[in-house]
Amino acid sequence: MAHLTSSSHPAAGLEADALVVIVAKDCGRAVLADGHGLPPQATTHLTTVIAELELTGDPGEVTTVAAVPEVRAPRVVLAGAGDLTGPDPATREHIRQAVGAAVRGLESRRQVAVVVPTGATDLGAAVAEGAALGSYTPAKVGADKSPRTQNVTVLGPTDGPTRKAVKRAGVIGSAVAYARDLVNQPPNLLYPESFVASLAERAKGTKVKLKSLDLGQLRTGGFGGIVGVGQGSVNEPRLATLAYSPSRPRASLAFVGKGITFDSGGLCIKPADGMLTMKSDMAGAAAVAAAVFGIAELGLPVAVTGYLGIAENMPSGTAQRPGDVVTMRGGKTVEILNTDAEGRMVLGDCLALAAEREPRAIVDVATLTGAQVIALADTAAVMGRGDEFRTRVVDIAGAVGEAVWPMPLPSELRPALETPNADLAHKGGREGGMLTAGIFLGEFVPEGTDWAHLDIAGPSFNSKAAHGYTPKGGTGFGVRTLVGLAESYC
Ligand code: BES
Ligand code: MN
Ligand code: ZN
Repeated sequence: MAHLTSSSHPAAGLEADALVVIVAKDCGRAVLADGHGLPPQATTHLTTVIAELELTGDPGEVTTVAAVPEVRAPRVVLAGAGDLTGPDPATREHIRQAVGAAVRGLESRRQVAVVVPTGATDLGAAVAEGAALGSYTPAKVGADKSPRTQNVTVLGPTDGPTRKAVKRAGVIGSAVAYARDLVNQPPNLLYPESFVASLAERAKGTKVKLKSLDLGQLRTGGFGGIVGVGQGSVNEPRLATLAYSPSRPRASLAFVGKGITFDSGGLCIKPADGMLTMKSDMAGAAAVAAAVFGIAELGLPVAVTGYLGIAENMPSGTAQRPGDVVTMRGGKTVEILNTDAEGRMVLGDCLALAAEREPRAIVDVATLTGAQVIALADTAAVMGRGDEFRTRVVDIAGAVGEAVWPMPLPSELRPALETPNADLAHKGGREGGMLTAGIFLGEFVPEGTDWAHLDIAGPSFNSKAAHGYTPKGGTGFGVRTLVGLAESYC
């Protein structure tokens, strides 16, 4: 975790363990990015290093140089950021990734300073966000509960807006870290009851009110989707709500998260390899929870309620069967066809509940389909109703640096969800699997309500090596878009 401060101190004289300087790619050549303010000998030395080591300035290139003349910090880290002359959102993301990669590599250094490059775009916020996101160490079971904090100084202007942006970056960074930590928890330790207990712990002393429905309440409340998915596990399901209600809010938003603490597939069991990352099947719920806490911490004048459908999908003698027909919240009946399509069942109940309170807009976030991973890999898909609203979500995601691409909900796929045995079949055929899942969810959102569905199966969990500001494991994807969306109503 990073503790961020801003300072206009000259970079060369600053006492720090490491000084991060951005290297841009300008007309195909690596150069020190404008605004470093380093003295002549330091500039000459670093320019020689760039030439002699044939640095490219490409994103992800991190080069450490020791004992740079005239620089007090014992090491200078050159962080490649690529082209910084493109559109503003692209430039900001290049800076976030470059700073994130550099700070991540400096995990063991306590005092880090990063120079904000100057140019057409104000990059102070991007530097702060990159540092906040890159400074993350996954917690290990049994290890010290409080990972060491890194102090990161953002060297540049210290005017009011910059100081505010740096403060905001700190809140966003800890919200994303909270979501990552939840996702990284092993599934024997994070199950529905313990998930809710950890939410209660986090909610203490905040303006967020937690409520949780237990199995009995879910049954009497008619939440057949959640009850059905959870019935195969000894760990009973929950529906948790997290409400932040400031006085005189400008809008009221509902966020819905898929919280499957482990997805074995149920009776339609997954192959071993497919189960390996399925502790992360609650990443949507983690993102929603983190966003609500973050929005409350920022004190935004927008009311938000998070609805978390939490269950463990397990096979057993009490597990749900293909062919079962369950009644969802609101009364629609669904015929189960494949118990591995459990996410849409918990989400359907949560969407129906969220809609009862008539929010301005509903966004659900879910690791919903393998089809999303095949189609878009680490780019999330957004579907929904209200073209303007979907575009709003895409634009905000782009501005905060989360890759989200729009996908349609074609009406010609709706018949795939018809069955003689219930109001709805719970899945369609193989073609357009991501889209039929979205269409299914839409059945639980009233026509006319702005609604977006984010399928984050790919980007929520990084099984490969860390890169940029993205660690291995849980990524916290979605948190920044949800917070950005709330900010857009302020
Ligand atoms: N949790 C999975 C989706 C998933 C797959 C997330 C890979 C992350 C990585 C979901 O519950 C699932 O199993 N979906 C099935 C649905 C199918 C049975 C209709 C799928 O996509 O295969
Ligand atoms: Mn599944
Ligand atoms: Zn799942």
